[in-house]
Amino acid sequence: MKLLDNKVAIVTGAARGIGEAIAVKLAEHGAHIAFTYVSDSSADKAAALEQKLVSLGVKAKAYKSNAADFAASETFVNDVLKEFGNIDVCVNNAGISKDNLLLRMSQEQWDDVMNVNLKSVFNMTKQVIRPMMKAKKGSIINMSSIIGIRGNAGQSSYAASKAGIIGFTKSIAHELGSRNIRCNAIAPGFIETDMTHYLQDGDASKTFLEKIPLGRFGQGEEIANTTLFLASDMSSYVTGQVLSVCGGLNI
Ligand code: NAI
Repeated sequence: MKLLDNKVAIVTGAARGIGEAIAVKLAEHGAHIAFTYVSDSSADKAAALEQKLVSLGVKAKAYKSNAADFAASETFVNDVLKEFGNIDVCVNNAGISKDNLLLRMSQEQWDDVMNVNLKSVFNMTKQVIRPMMKAKKGSIINMSSIIGIRGNAGQSSYAASKAGIIGFTKSIAHELGSRNIRCNAIAPGFIETDMTHYLQDGDASKTFLEKIPLGRFGQGEEIANTTLFLASDMSSYVTGQVLSVCGGLNI
């Protein structure tokens, strides 16, 4: 018996990076996976991931859907319910960064980050709680960031969106705990993905590494392991929490 046998999990923004690692990890532990990607340029990667997940022995389907778009999120969740029957786990992973000092930040940059990172969590959570309430169970996992806890120069929009996710997560945990729906957030530190590639070499890398007690950047799989814990009944008494997975960067 695997930890997530016969559960259905949604993962947003899973064509690469942390989302991809999460989709693979949850599938390895028996979950059927419905995942999203947003751009046509990711279609091949999404198709390859779908194949990989199916080869792990679960049902899997890629959906092109913009998590920042309320109507698209509603359509996506309805399509998943038609295809998969129910939704046990929702991982709100999709995210972007458009870093700039506030002096130079445009309104458009601010809005894009808030829409993709924060509004997407509202869009998706609002849709998945209905089937979860009916089933009297569910686990929602929101991808925050250590930057949402401590802030960072040049990342005010990203930090605000990720801090917003924490407030949202705790509120949903309060609202839906009585329905046996858990809602938690993960706050990754620096994880080696395309999003952080510019930090991974040279002086910037050295400066960051000096601040991380474990002395290295994290891997997508390490976030996926935490997601697996929060998705499964191993965390049945955990809700409204922010789990930092950051090599000790926050201490
Ligand atoms: P990434 O850039 O490699 O992956 C993000 C994924 O989200 C991409 O596949 C992208 O296409 C997708 N996406 C973007 N906008 C979308 C939208 N509107 N609808 C659906 N999908 C969309 O980044 P990474 O590193 O894998 O990040 C995943 C999550 O983890 C993000 O929320 C990010 O903010 C968060 N995070 C990452 C950290 C890191 O060090 N890499 C640290 C802390 C948090």
